Amino acid sequence: MWKKWFGKNSTTQQNIYCNIDFTRLPRHVAIIMDGNGRWAQKRGLPRTFGHRAGAETLRDIVKAASEIGIKVLTAYAFSTENWRRPADEVDLLMRLLSDYLDNEIDELDQNNVQVKFIGKIDELAKTLQNKIEKAQAQTAQNTGLILNLAVNYGGRAELTRAVKIISEKVLNKELTLEDITEEMIERSLYTADLPAPDLLIRPSGDFRISNFLLWQLAYTEFWFTDINWPDFKPEHLVQAILDFQQRERRFGGIKNTKKR
Ligand code: FPP
Repeated sequence: MWKKWFGKNSTTQQNIYCNIDFTRLPRHVAIIMDGNGRWAQKRGLPRTFGHRAGAETLRDIVKAASEIGIKVLTAYAFSTENWRRPADEVDLLMRLLSDYLDNEIDELDQNNVQVKFIGKIDELAKTLQNKIEKAQAQTAQNTGLILNLAVNYGGRAELTRAVKIISEKVLNKELTLEDITEEMIERSLYTADLPAPDLLIRPSGDFRISNFLLWQLAYTEFWFTDINWPDFKPEHLVQAILDFQQRERRFGGIKNTKKR
């Protein structure tokens, strides 16, 4: 995998990973790929250039996450609120996703990456839905990194959907109110088969979660940086992981009861 993805640069890449404690990796890293517009603006370019550059960054970070041995990488590509953007920007984001699936899936597949999607996929254009389905099917048996792309995703919409799934079962008398537990809610989320994120990365200097993984982030460690997403490099992913490895996670308990 190293050779194929990094070729001659593989030694450089290996060096940037050398301080990581591979026995204490975050299993699931979530990323809000923010700052594409600002990156472009700073250069006097249209916002769409920032998104194109952001898509390149995603390619590099997926490769790095896979090489490091992270189990799940969830990337926020398009939110349920992003439809409010100008039509040409929305079109470009959809095209970038479509191009990504056209151009990257075979290589991701060869590198044992499993591609998954979360969000209201059934509201996307039919051609895009087909590509998404094909990508998921093609990579379903892969056992390496799970690349989980959040598209037309909103945390509130996800929770609303979960409430409806459970309510329907109550109405149909398949469940009673007493049967409703945190575990059942978790099983009704898009992320039912994934561990909760251990680490959330948000570049570009904003300190908010923007309707991302509202339930799942309950005990996640957050890492913020001023760097805009198109400038985010594997080195920054490593920095975030090293910082994560210094943190003490207590999950509401006290030091000796910490769960890892
Ligand atoms: C937020 O930056 C970013 C987005 C809304 C889109 C993220 C999409 C990509 C990185 C590329 C496409 C994805 C794939 C899967 C190929 P912003 O535009 O809000 O930046 P700003 O806050 O600086 O304006």
